[in-house]
Amino acid sequence: MSGITDEIKTRCNIVDVVGRYVQLKRTGTGYMGLCPFHGEKTPSFHVSDSRQFYHCFGCGESGDVISFVMKMDNVDFMTAVRKLCEQYGIDMEAFGFGRESGKNEIYEMNREAARFFFHAIADRPNPGREYLQDRGLDKTAIAKFGLGYADGRWHSLLDHMKAKGYSEKQLMNAGLISQSKGRYYDKFRDRVIFPIINTRGKVIAFGGRAIAGQDPKYLNSPESAAFSKKDNLFGLNLSRDAVKNADQIIIVEGYMDMISLYMAGITNVAATLGTAMTPNHCVMIRRYTTNVVLSYDSDEAGRKAALRGIEVLKDAGLNASVLHVTDGKDPDEFIRSNGPEAFRELVSRAQNYADYRLESEKRKYDLNETDGAVRYIRAAAEILNDISPALADTYVSKLAGEAGISQGAVRKEIEAVSRMRQAGAGGRTRSAERTATEEPSGAGLNLQRTFLALAVQNPQYIKPISEYESVFTDRNCFRLFSAIRSIFEEDPGTDINKVFDSMDAADAELLARIRETILIQDDPEKLFNDCVTRIRINELQKRHRELEYCLDVIPEGSGDRVRELMDELKHIDGELHSMKQKFRSDY
Ligand code: UTP
Ligand code: MN
Repeated sequence: MSGITDEIKTRCNIVDVVGRYVQLKRTGTGYMGLCPFHGEKTPSFHVSDSRQFYHCFGCGESGDVISFVMKMDNVDFMTAVRKLCEQYGIDMEAFGFGRESGKNEIYEMNREAARFFFHAIADRPNPGREYLQDRGLDKTAIAKFGLGYADGRWHSLLDHMKAKGYSEKQLMNAGLISQSKGRYYDKFRDRVIFPIINTRGKVIAFGGRAIAGQDPKYLNSPESAAFSKKDNLFGLNLSRDAVKNADQIIIVEGYMDMISLYMAGITNVAATLGTAMTPNHCVMIRRYTTNVVLSYDSDEAGRKAALRGIEVLKDAGLNASVLHVTDGKDPDEFIRSNGPEAFRELVSRAQNYADYRLESEKRKYDLNETDGAVRYIRAAAEILNDISPALADTYVSKLAGEAGISQGAVRKEIEAVSRMRQAGAGGRTRSAERTATEEPSGAGLNLQRTFLALAVQNPQYIKPISEYESVFTDRNCFRLFSAIRSIFEEDPGTDINKVFDSMDAADAELLARIRETILIQDDPEKLFNDCVTRIRINELQKRHRELEYCLDVIPEGSGDRVRELMDELKHIDGELHSMKQKFRSDY
């Protein structure tokens, strides 16, 4: 199957498309005009009709017809594709994009339904408004979140939508109605409606809170082409600027938690909607911040979810911390009785990864019993092996104090776990894997993204990058890189846009964004070499920390071994010093 991007590039001449925005003049090698991406008075924006590519010699922007539309119209990859297909009469369905167009249709139906529910709650007194009032949400909150009311009748929305021209089949597809014995009826009845809106402003689904004690308490739209729970955070559409400004996001479980915090002025918040934190959530969060505070319910389920959540966050290279409210079962109840300042106070005291895991573990043992104390230290040693040795070391004296055990014994436990993991004997493979690779820090991610951008813009680097495959510690980056590589392995001469075709929409978007944000300007070779240097520096730094750690814990009287370690350390110091001098790049 030839890809949709090929089709677009054959049928939509880039000169035509750019020509709609920019006045172009013919030159020897193509066309020139004023760059639409930066202010200029003399043309340095070049469009090549033979290569179907544009490049600005002033600001360095470059790309193909699709990336041009993405940038000009500030839209994502699929939207640009759809737009060009519409303009040039390309049948997307012939390229397997039927589901995509279904998605837009669902957005439209949902928007109409959201409007209908909102009018029902806003225009006249009704049980939904009363219910929200009782829970402290006024008209302002209703308007801000576009909340609504689905009445108790069976056909209110169905009738409305049919009058708007939608069929039962379409409404079923959007999950707005249900069917039983050949009869159709509204899915949401006698409920307060929470529209779930993505960061692009599309109404992707609804949550409905029962107001008459029905089961389930919250009814959600089914998963559809437009909605996938694991990919979305409720409220992020409103909170993302605040999240960016605060450089921190507070993640809560429920609709009401999100709304209560937000309305109380704590606006850097979003909700996972009762599901666990997923790697996809992490990708989304990372666009705005790397600092995540989990504020789940204080019950057992909330604690379990937080423990799982911090692992997922840590694996994605995000800084996770956790708080559980001290009064009431969830943040909504807490803030209602204690106010925003008290909540902020809790946020400032949220526990980091190690503290939280250690504390959760400690609850399980009786430290007054020797047996309990020893088992606690064993468990703690496992946890400390999941964090950097230097940080782990800062916990030693505290643990020793708690368990009434010498610091030396605590260290020994930690080392024993570390040896076991290195030997691959027993131990939990997940944790072992985690210690085997460096935690993906912010810088590590930049490296991964830069490699991806290089691979996608200069395919000749795919092979050399493969040599450093282990830097792709982020799942998404790894998946993207593997996809790019396998396509080029199959057909080295392929067009890079084939890669986009072969990916699902979310991945294509992620890759498009990377390609967009990381510009390989004139010197890909230097960029590649800088990355390699960066990797070497990371390795040396890691070994450096290990050596320091060994020197710290090595038993008295191991003079020769100490000297060996010192020599290696000095050697590494020297190499690091000269590398850093050469290395002036800033990622
Ligand atoms: P909770 O049961 O903690 O609800 O579920 P809550 O937010 O405190 O609800 P209120 O305050 O009683 O109204 C947390 C979240 O889990 C999802 C919802 O997203 C909810 O906000 N959930 C819960 C469901 O999807 N279905 C359910 O039946 C229950
Ligand atoms: Mn609640």
